[in-house]
Amino acid sequence: MNEYANTSSPVTGVRKAVVPVAGLGTRFLPATKAIPKELLPVVDRPAIQYVVEEAARAGLDDLLLITGRGKDAIEDHFDAAPYLEERLAADGKDALLAEVQHATEVAEVHAVRQGNPKGLGHAVLRAREHVGDEPFAVLLGDDLIDADEPLLERMLEVQRTRSATVVALLEVPEDRAHLYGVAAVEPTEEADVVTITGLVEKPPAGTAPSNLAVIGRYVLRPEIFDVLEQTEPGRGGEIQLTDALQTLASDASIAGPVLGVVYTGRRFDTGDKLEYLKTVVTLASERDDLGPAFNAWLAERAQQ
Ligand code: G1P
Repeated sequence: MNEYANTSSPVTGVRKAVVPVAGLGTRFLPATKAIPKELLPVVDRPAIQYVVEEAARAGLDDLLLITGRGKDAIEDHFDAAPYLEERLAADGKDALLAEVQHATEVAEVHAVRQGNPKGLGHAVLRAREHVGDEPFAVLLGDDLIDADEPLLERMLEVQRTRSATVVALLEVPEDRAHLYGVAAVEPTEEADVVTITGLVEKPPAGTAPSNLAVIGRYVLRPEIFDVLEQTEPGRGGEIQLTDALQTLASDASIAGPVLGVVYTGRRFDTGDKLEYLKTVVTLASERDDLGPAFNAWLAERAQQ
């Protein structure tokens, strides 16, 4: 018997998504001095809205933001705005009205504060009361996943059929591995699914166990909460979700296997300045309304 209570939840459909948003966004200062980084626009909607829409598309319509000081505007974004809506309706701006109302309707958004943020593991632990004894998803706001190549749906399917903890993995170049959690893996009978045998948070250059990096999508079982309670601060002095997952991966008697779904679609990183710019340009160039004019300008500019 291991030290963790095995609550072995019944296999229910996952309904809840947890989205940590308490980070300070220091990489985007001074833009993020008074505005949460999650509200920086990616074309014409805040980055966080893409993530919430991704969760809703996968059937997760109960969303918990793990928030913090200075982040109230994120909740406002998903709340009704009666005065604005009345004005848009009165002015006949129906398309804009629909966009504004869509943010309210896309999911039921709850929030809990992280208080003194002590890392991603600590943020996830703050979801315990809201989540209860069910499997749940965690989506990190910096990672945007191509809507045309769904990832979360596949992870939920793997969770349901294998009753496992499921982590999204992406092949990255060796010289980028130190920026991520990195997994040691073994193949399974399914081509896109691997068994995770170990995980390291941000391994020093040259020590990564593979080129498979954790990207910000997880489907977790509720046993993770007990493990997080007992996880000591790790890299950067923070309670790392990766370390709790490593505990699960090293002892399947706690909560079954930890599996990785290897994603081959496009993942956009909005947490890094250069990658953020590339994301905005790529998504704008693919939009039906903006793309033609924007691409023509881009082509012209590339020749200068
Ligand atoms: C977090 C996780 C890391 C993961 C990354 C994905 O790191 O701790 O394991 O690879 O997200 O974006 P962060 O980027 O918040 O430092």
